[in-house]
Amino acid sequence: MEDTDLLEVSIWKQGKSYLVKPRGFGADAVASATWKRTLAKMAQDRVIFDQAAGKELIEKKGDPIVYEVINLWKFAPKIAELGRKSGIACDLTIINYGVISTSGNGELFCTYGHGHEKRLGEIYSVLAGKASLIMYLPGSNLTRVVRMGKGDECYIPPDWVHRTCCGDEGVVLAGFVPHAAGHDYEAVRALGFPYHVFYDEKGGKVSYKRNPRFENASLETVDAEGSLGAVKKFFTEPLELKRMLEKEA
Ligand SMILES: [Fe+2]
Repeated sequence: MEDTDLLEVSIWKQGKSYLVKPRGFGADAVASATWKRTLAKMAQDRVIFDQAAGKELIEKKGDPIVYEVINLWKFAPKIAELGRKSGIACDLTIINYGVISTSGNGELFCTYGHGHEKRLGEIYSVLAGKASLIMYLPGSNLTRVVRMGKGDECYIPPDWVHRTCCGDEGVVLAGFVPHAAGHDYEAVRALGFPYHVFYDEKGGKVSYKRNPRFENASLETVDAEGSLGAVKKFFTEPLELKRMLEKEA
């Protein structure tokens, strides 16, 4: 069974981005468990590389929805029940395709980014599209970027601050994280990440810009190594998945 069938979600491509519909629920039920992040908030909080480029894009083209999160655990009964049993929250994150620029060469649309308040990990699973997971361990110089495509999963160990950006198309991610982990957005606010991912639409080329706030940062880019079986584990062995989310790096 496909991961999307286990999660009971339908996904369509529209342009370079994806639309998602949890099966069997009305628009109101889904909307009440969905939140959207716009570029203006990210520029205001200085979590993107170039705030001026963000403001210019908003002035010329309006404030885009960069990504949205659907908290499946809030309304899908099976996922809610497994969540109560295991303590794991299952969410969908849909990052629209876009670059923060009016010239077509800019930072790729990304999530705000956060750390966890408790020492607990998280797994992201790509259901559709392409993404890069950007993570770094505060206090070390290392930033790791993991390039992911459909079917890839990646483990984020405790303590690593993380965000995800789209690739040359949007992405739909399923995330599994203990409810107890909590979100620490202060780890990112007015700081950003050691490296930000840029894309030149004309040349089709990705580049990585070092954030001057992180003087000694170093970058490692790798390709994801396929599935960890997390989606299936959530449905069949949720307590085993819970143990996976408590693993050290
Ligand atoms: Fe997280």
